[in-house]
Amino acid sequence: LRDGPDAFSPPPLSQTAKSYAPFERGPAGLLAELTHRCPLQCPYCSNPLDLERANTELTSGEWGDVFRQAASIGALQLHLSGGEPTIRRDLEEILAHAVDAGLYTNLVTSAVLLTRERLAHLAEIGLDHVQVSVQDVVPESSDHISGYEGGVAKKRDVARWAREFGLGLTINAPIHRQNIDHLPQIIDFAVEVGAQRLEVAHIQYYAWAEVNRAALIPTREKFLATVGIVEEAKKRLQGVLNFDFVIHDHYASRPKACTGGWGRSIMVVTPSGKALPCHAAQTLPGLSFDNVRERPLAEIWRNGAAFEAFRGEEWMQEPCRSCDKRGVDYGGCRCQALAVTGNAAATDPACHRSAHHEEFATLGQNESLLPAPAFVYRRLGGADRKEKALDEQP
Ligand code: SF4
Ligand code: FES
Repeated sequence: LRDGPDAFSPPPLSQTAKSYAPFERGPAGLLAELTHRCPLQCPYCSNPLDLERANTELTSGEWGDVFRQAASIGALQLHLSGGEPTIRRDLEEILAHAVDAGLYTNLVTSAVLLTRERLAHLAEIGLDHVQVSVQDVVPESSDHISGYEGGVAKKRDVARWAREFGLGLTINAPIHRQNIDHLPQIIDFAVEVGAQRLEVAHIQYYAWAEVNRAALIPTREKFLATVGIVEEAKKRLQGVLNFDFVIHDHYASRPKACTGGWGRSIMVVTPSGKALPCHAAQTLPGLSFDNVRERPLAEIWRNGAAFEAFRGEEWMQEPCRSCDKRGVDYGGCRCQALAVTGNAAATDPACHRSAHHEEFATLGQNESLLPAPAFVYRRLGGADRKEKALDEQP
């Protein structure tokens, strides 16, 4: 996609890398990973390989404190995420704290555990938005990908209830080799349930997705077909459905401004309270992460070692250091740079100027042409999740 359409350019940002330091403004968004427990076993799970245990999770009161601190330094949006956040029996209390703090709340959920009554109650408390993840809309395929039976019908119900209760609705569809042919049906599903936004997100290959890369990576031709499908649907569904399209890194020519730039706009807090600049930041060696139980959020955001590590331009190497795009994409994704080049400060290999780009693109194409191996499912605690009580995970 070296000469691809403008739709693939990173979104415009109001500040350039040069102008944001010193960093006084708070994060616009807070991603609260309420738990790592989850009833699904998606083979591209982006949670860390070492999941945090239920007995280390922040209490609802501790989350409330985090939300008030985040709001006080300028955060506007809160994403209640996981794992599966609805596993938390005190989700209602957690949400009430967020509403009190004045944050716009988005529940990021697989939907399979939600009942109509519980969603109605969450809406009453003040929930603003629901983001439902969809593994596929063909039931057999969805069951196979998620390792969970009956998910599609449940997601359809929850999505419709969300609209009935006046909540905003986004459908998030991670796209890969095993569901890429069903993209037109996924778009139809989003329209059918009344979603306002559909995220068509080609997955990134780190954490558990790296383990399953050969089973997940689509061919370049299939990827390019999704570009055409989304462009056509955007025109056809103008005013009905908005699209976010996340390009496939192996077939890109320019990287994404991952997380909107390191330490620029979001903060992730893990179930046990570690504050991260991106959800995969723990894959980077040598970084130390503050815990919200031990240090005020404002200090972590402004001075935390992990947040400072890749802010500004001092850390950049060539070709990023002298590139006129460095204030737009910030050199791309640090986690991908590390995973592919072994150097977290290197240029993201998705960039055509990276010395690793050709190898990166060829690896994707070669792997995608081989027969897909079986998924390696993640089985928490060594037991079949469907039979293991969720309170006991991991
Ligand atoms: Fe972005 Fe670096 Fe590539 Fe320039 S060289 S486009 S700054 S990743
Ligand atoms: Fe960590 Fe991109 S996932 S910087």
